[in-house]
Amino acid sequence: MAKSKSVYFCQNCGAESAKWIGRCPACNEWNTYVEQVVSKTKTSTQVSFTEEKQLPQKIFDIKSEKKGRISTGINELDRILGGGLVYGSLILIGGEPGIGKSTLALQVALKLNQHKVLYISGEESPQQIKLRAERLKLNNENCFILSETLLENIYTHVINIKPDIIIVDSIQTLYTDKLESSAGTVSQIKETAASLLKYAKETGTPVFLIGHINKEGNLAGPKVLEHVVDTVLQFEGDHNNMYRILRTTKNRFGSTSELGMFEMNNNGLVEVADPSQVLITQTNENLSGTTIASTINGVRPLLLEIQALVSSAAYGTPQRSSTGFDNRRLGMLLAVLEKRAGFRLGQKDVFLNVAGGIKIDDPASDLAVIASVLSSNLDIPIDKTVCFAGEVGLTGEIRPANRIEQRIGEANKLGFKKIYISGYNSKGVDMSKYKIQIVKVAKVEELFRSLFKKN
Ligand code: TYD
Ligand code: MG
Repeated sequence: MAKSKSVYFCQNCGAESAKWIGRCPACNEWNTYVEQVVSKTKTSTQVSFTEEKQLPQKIFDIKSEKKGRISTGINELDRILGGGLVYGSLILIGGEPGIGKSTLALQVALKLNQHKVLYISGEESPQQIKLRAERLKLNNENCFILSETLLENIYTHVINIKPDIIIVDSIQTLYTDKLESSAGTVSQIKETAASLLKYAKETGTPVFLIGHINKEGNLAGPKVLEHVVDTVLQFEGDHNNMYRILRTTKNRFGSTSELGMFEMNNNGLVEVADPSQVLITQTNENLSGTTIASTINGVRPLLLEIQALVSSAAYGTPQRSSTGFDNRRLGMLLAVLEKRAGFRLGQKDVFLNVAGGIKIDDPASDLAVIASVLSSNLDIPIDKTVCFAGEVGLTGEIRPANRIEQRIGEANKLGFKKIYISGYNSKGVDMSKYKIQIVKVAKVEELFRSLFKKN
């Protein structure tokens, strides 16, 4: 006889409680608990997918299987996975609706034409997927499309087809009839993901899961999903912009600071081999308020264009708003300029934008931000062949940036003539091997003098 009981789950983090609570003690979110009926039959232990019974083994006796990795046919994806797909790995691709998750997954499915791929979709019909495939102009004889959401039915097909790779679009549409709650609830996501993990590990089949993102930008469903999978790939980008960034936020088989860049065009996602080149506007005109920051995104150097607009506040309270850059950090940098360098920005509106719809999270972009603000405030352009890499401290000092050689190297490669770095950054850097002129500044005032006070 099936026993059923009611449990409350936090829809944000997946925490469980026997009774309803207003505020989740685990993630502090309000009003996120939802009642779910969980019925568990005594015989609900998961089926095994292989004949062998697992027994404890001595690590000494375990043979490390050097099976290598499977190339996905997309170089950028292989690179951020740490060199291709690992057998038996569970990979989660997260991102906002419409960002290109299904497109990427289908591209992988169709490019892997040496392998049997099963693409399971709970969101689109086979006809819709076919239309997309035609748009991508790719074909794979060994790619099977299945429109199904019940996990048990999926396994029946999986056992028949024995695919080499499985893609599930999306984990939120799957459900198992072992649980009474509806698809997309925390308990269903937990259970179906755990079952697919077991399948992946036992059979050595790589499984891709596509996951939706909620309003706050977190993966919808429980945090446990992120714990269960081996690799989390996060798709980022602006809908109005064609560039998309794929970032690893977790990777058991590679580095977590990898980043790949794609461009969404009419035939799907195309890799961008040299991101810095495309992110910088290729005009010869010098415009005030625009500077280039030499940033490191993950482990990758990336030159980004930062635009600032400083104007007299039209209404009482000045506005400070930024896109792609932390608003509080902008506030801090403006306060430093005001207090340490005497710029009166208190009554000015300041808008900041990182071009290309990219978000930066690199303190060394501070120097470019303040240079942009100063340039817009004075309405004096900064030459397009100049770039910046340095962090600004509260006392107005320019602090050294990490991986400075990589930053200088990238700017040098792209033909920049001058880079401003921190005066404290010199140790161990062999400046002589670069053509680019390196200017060291130790204080905000020094930067100002060097940029705008021509003798
Ligand atoms: P999609 O992969 O369906 O997004 P997700 O699965 O993350 O929700 O991407 C859909 C968007 O991509 C849609 O707005 C149309 C656009 N698109 C192109 O611009 N070019 C293409 O070749 C394809 C297939 C989609
Ligand atoms: Mg989709």
